[in-house]
Amino acid sequence: MDIKKIMVIGAGQMGAGIAQVCATAGYAVTLHDQSEDALQQGIKGIERRFARSVEKERMTQEEMDAAVKQLTTASDLHAASDVDVVIEAAVEKMDVKKQIFQALDDIVPTHTILATNTSSLPITEIAASTSRPDRVIGMHFMNPVPVMKLVEVIRGIQTSDDTCMRIEKVAASLHKTTVEVKDFPGFAANRILMPMINEAITTVHEGVASKEDVDTVMKLGANHPMGPLELADFIGLDTCLYIMEVLYEGFKDSKYRPSPLLRQYVQAGWLGQKTGKGFYEYNR
Ligand code: NAI
Repeated sequence: MDIKKIMVIGAGQMGAGIAQVCATAGYAVTLHDQSEDALQQGIKGIERRFARSVEKERMTQEEMDAAVKQLTTASDLHAASDVDVVIEAAVEKMDVKKQIFQALDDIVPTHTILATNTSSLPITEIAASTSRPDRVIGMHFMNPVPVMKLVEVIRGIQTSDDTCMRIEKVAASLHKTTVEVKDFPGFAANRILMPMINEAITTVHEGVASKEDVDTVMKLGANHPMGPLELADFIGLDTCLYIMEVLYEGFKDSKYRPSPLLRQYVQAGWLGQKTGKGFYEYNR
């Protein structure tokens, strides 16, 4: 069956980006969030990015109008009753994701694939909370979604070949390159990236170097486009902490212990760019 309708759940930085690229590719997209404010902010962000693309001649006004037309919002999950694929990008918490997947399982048609953009949570466990584990898969986009080319495709132990093939086709239609990875804590991208960010935070916490100097070391010394602390602020410090906790729990190895400083920043509500303060300060 052809995939024409997609619901994206969560209108935060990832969900809004995913909805944007899906609408640009011509899918009928419904963006859902439990927060009406997040939905409005998400749509505003998409329109702002489209307008900038038109200004920079990366897309025409007609293309922008066509893409905007593909987008609708829904605060009721029942709007998923006729979609072919759901891509969930709500907060990185297993209980929240399971709740969403269980509810969706009763709402969506039998053929519908339920994909999650989780950064690190086990796909197999999310899938097992539904009656269709063969049609549940990880579709891990990178941030910012419209710019980054990679999508990690993660198969749960029960994910079918057909589901995998169909999701890889959707990713290709969004001009993304896919890498298929196993369902192991942190998958591939965050198993490598997050301990590096966590170590950068520990380096600052131990007073080895200032946050600016740690970022300079990695930018000028390792040719990273962003320093690890800038990147942590960009990703969201809450998301970084959740991922470290998944790695620590999943491997039971102390090398993945989340930095106490990271935990303290999250406790303070300093989540990075999205709250205006993390390791750096931002005008929102
Ligand atoms: P965010 O905090 O910007 O947005 C999360 C959104 O989910 C919020 O708008 C919130 O209102 C909504 N939400 C929470 N619970 C919900 C529910 N029960 N039903 C509907 N909506 C709900 O978070 P962000 O950064 O967009 O992350 C979302 C997901 O994407 C997480 O699983 C995260 O691990 C993953 N991810 C994040 C990346 C990043 O760089 N931030 C990169 C790749 C994946």
